[in-house]
Parts: sequence; C-alpha cells; structure tokens
Amino acid sequence: MLATTTLAEEILDLKRDRRAILLAHHYQDAEIQELADFVGDSLELARKAKEAEGDVIAFCGVWFMAETAKVLNPSRVVVVPDQDASCSLVDSCPVEPIREYRRRNPDHVIVSYINTSIEVKAESDLLCTSRNAVQVVNSIPPERMVLFLPDRNLGAYVQQQTGRQNMKIWQGSCIVHNTFPVRRLLESKAAYPEAVVVAHPECPADVLRNSDFIGSTSAIIDFCGASEAREFIVMTESGVNFSLERVAPGKRFHYVANENCNCSECPFMRMNTLEKVRDSLRTLEPRVELSAELIARALLPLERMLAIR
Ligand code: 13P
Ligand code: SF4
Repeated sequence: MLATTTLAEEILDLKRDRRAILLAHHYQDAEIQELADFVGDSLELARKAKEAEGDVIAFCGVWFMAETAKVLNPSRVVVVPDQDASCSLVDSCPVEPIREYRRRNPDHVIVSYINTSIEVKAESDLLCTSRNAVQVVNSIPPERMVLFLPDRNLGAYVQQQTGRQNMKIWQGSCIVHNTFPVRRLLESKAAYPEAVVVAHPECPADVLRNSDFIGSTSAIIDFCGASEAREFIVMTESGVNFSLERVAPGKRFHYVANENCNCSECPFMRMNTLEKVRDSLRTLEPRVELSAELIARALLPLERMLAIR
C-alpha cells in the first residue's frame, strides 16, 4: 500500500525546499502553531522576522504583521496564507485623515499601534504594540502633544497608566476584544469564583476594571504559566489556549464569548488554514510587495520602537 503524504508533511517538505521559516501568531489554529518555527505575539514576531535567515517568511497571522516583517527584512519573500486576513483596527484608520492631521499639526507626535496599514506607519513618528505601548508613550517628552491611534481601548489604558493628559486617541476598535460584554465576564466570575481574570488591553475599560492582570498576548501566557493560581478567565482570542496548555498543563482556562459570533475567535486570523499555508509555500503567493520608499519611511518609527526596551 502506498503511504499518503499528509498536509503537515507536505508543508514541512516545502518549508525545507523553499528555505522558509514559518512564523505564527498565538491566535492561529493549533495545527498551524504546531508546524511553526516560532509562535509569538506581534512584538516577538516582529523581532523574529528581523533576524530570520533563509529565503522565505511564511507569516501565519494577519496582513499588517506580514508587512511589518517585510519592512524589517526586505530581502526575504514574505507570504501570508490568506490575502484577506486584515484587522478591524487597520480598517478603522485610513491614511488620508492621518496625512491631513500631520499637515495641520506638524509638532504633534503620532504614535501608531502596530495594527495599522503600512501607509499609516509611514506617517507615524513611533510605533508600539500592546506589550510596549506604555513605555513608548513614556519615552515622549511630556510637553509634546501625542496622537495615539487607532485603538481607543488601548489608548485609554495607556493614558491611565502613564497619567498623560496631552494625548488624543483615535476611536478605532477590535471587533473581538471590544465586544466582550462585561455582563458575561461578571457571570463567568460568579461561576468560577476562584479564577484569576487576565485581559488584553484592547478590551473595553469596564472589562479591564474587572481584570486582575492586563497584558499583551505573550504577557498573558507568561503570567498564567508563572502564577500559582490554577484557574483563569481569559479575556482574549481563544487561540491562545494552545500556548496556555503548553506552558500551564493541568490549569483550567475559561473563555468569555463576545456578542458578535458567540465565540472569541478573530475571523481574520482564522482565515489562514493548513491548505492555504501549503499553497502559499508552493506558489509564494499571496506575497507582500512594498516599494522601497514605503519600506524606508515605515522602518524609521519601527526601529525607534524596537530600540525601546
Ligand atoms: P499582540 O500584540 O498581543 O500580539 O496583539 C495583537 C492583536 O492583534 C491583538 O488582537
Ligand atoms: Fe485585529 Fe482584533 Fe483580529 Fe487582533 S483580534 S487581528 S486586533 S481584529
């Protein structure tokens, strides 16, 4: 009987033949994370992409993350399994009003969350991720006016943490985190009174007020792994369960469904499938293509961010 090659084996063969590295965000399906060379949050993935060797980066996440990888390592071919894997925060912040804002307010500091288009990054002074947003804003002289974009919940959280008054906040939001209802969190707390609540800062303020720990995706995973608690209510995308079970075997994790889909999955992240990963490695499409000018302009705020520890 002929042995059949599984999809996973095909991907591993293609990865070797293409001299490709497979980077995956924690929100990807478990079967994708299992094949990845590295799994991380957006900051960790940016750092990994920068140092990636080989010819190809297969980026299993959303498009803006792959654009960031291309800016940091432009000689690599960067592919994403699904070209439509966008992000509601990127979609909430078109570049034209940002260009106009810059024209009118040349002395303001524009701080963009990494969840923005490459064009918006190119108009920015500094970038940040959920992991370093507080440090990034704290690095700006207090007398300078800041425009923080595009996530209003992360912006409000940063403002509260830094105490910064002269800061305007764009009013974009994440379709996953912003729609976690506090009512459901409170029900879950009543059902699991021993559980520690961990939340991503893209959640609304009332959810954050009812949380015990707030941090980026990897910070949440590290916290749950190190904590003495045995039970957690997790206010972020449920793809993190794969990494949580790896770092904290035997602990219990409860997820709160949002109002849109009655789940806690990002529809953009979940567009990537194993079949599409295989196809993207075969065809080297969809591929991130950026002009040298755009790369140079987006690299500046990105490098400023990476220099802040
Ligand atoms: P992290 O920076 O925590 O990876 O978050 C990215 C993201 O898209 C959260 O929804
Ligand atoms: Fe964007 Fe939200 Fe999906 Fe993260 S979870 S990629 S912020 S839509």
